[in-house]
Amino acid sequence: MSGGKPDGLPSEAELADMDRDELVKLGTAIDGVELVHYEERWPVKGTRAERRAERTVALWFTIAALAGLAFLGAFLFWPWKYEAPHTDEHILYSLYTPLIGFTLGLSILALGVGALLYTKKFIPEELAVQQRHDGGSPEIDKATVLAELADAGVRSTIGRRSLIKRTAGLGAGVFGLGVLAVPLGALVKNPWQDSETKNSLWHTGWKAENGEKVYLRRHTGRFHDVELIRPEDLAAGGFETVFPFRESERDDEEALVAALKRADNPVMLIRLRPGQEVVKRDGQEEFNYGDFYAYSKICTHLGCPTSLYEQQTGLLLCPCHQSQFDVFHYGKPRFGPATRALPQLPITVDEDGYLIARGDFIEAVGPAFWERKS
Ligand code: FES
Repeated sequence: MSGGKPDGLPSEAELADMDRDELVKLGTAIDGVELVHYEERWPVKGTRAERRAERTVALWFTIAALAGLAFLGAFLFWPWKYEAPHTDEHILYSLYTPLIGFTLGLSILALGVGALLYTKKFIPEELAVQQRHDGGSPEIDKATVLAELADAGVRSTIGRRSLIKRTAGLGAGVFGLGVLAVPLGALVKNPWQDSETKNSLWHTGWKAENGEKVYLRRHTGRFHDVELIRPEDLAAGGFETVFPFRESERDDEEALVAALKRADNPVMLIRLRPGQEVVKRDGQEEFNYGDFYAYSKICTHLGCPTSLYEQQTGLLLCPCHQSQFDVFHYGKPRFGPATRALPQLPITVDEDGYLIARGDFIEAVGPAFWERKS
């Protein structure tokens, strides 16, 4: 199958009469393709070695299907709700993410290995050289390319390998179901059902309950170490990440851990330098306490922690996609993909001199979500 473009091309009628082999030969000749090496993987059909190779490929596709099923099962039925450390359920809960990651990863890997092995063991070995040409393809090229593709399918021998076809279909099908389950998961099980967090996108752990004070608490790395903050604890120009604390939770291990872990709780307490000029947001003129300003740490773009503070410029940088928020200008975005200002927590100092929240944020924190209108 070598040579350049032939002088006499077939007419449309002759083209319609040509079978696949003839079209393939014509196509390679027209395209200036030279086949320099061609070798069937299994010149003698039905040998034990060939059947063994077939079973190996099928095994990988079966593993892909089983891992896909395991992923679906774990995704839908494994206990996923947060359980505090030292509880009996914590181990099961902490296995949820590794388990769905492992099973989905194994399913993808096994599908890939199966496809690779099939290519290595059954697709004929061939080496072809083709000259490039300019412009679009004429009708004759399109017809011959289709024939070449069909020919490649036939030569791959997939048509007569029903075991591989069935297991590959099963593996890819179950894997596809697993992938579909991720976006459709919320329709299968409602994460807010029977949960006290039903409205949790609209409020945070800073929400006052039963009139109890909510203190600003430092995170020391040990959940039972409760360190409250007074204004004199923070130097001018400094900042610190703080979490909510209520006296009623002092001996409640689960509540203490949950307050440190809840995703929308972290707040950056910033002490500006004296005399620093600040533009406050309309309706939030009283949210600061002197030079102390408290902003949600959750980036309004996609929810990363915006923890890099540059005190000279007053800019808070989110390391994920480089959004910058201006602390001197009510946390307004100055650069990057974020479009909303960081929500500000209203704070004050109680009669004992500790910093406390005067209420929850007055808007939802973090990135946009379906029900949010702004
Ligand atoms: S999450 Fe902060 S910039 Fe994207």
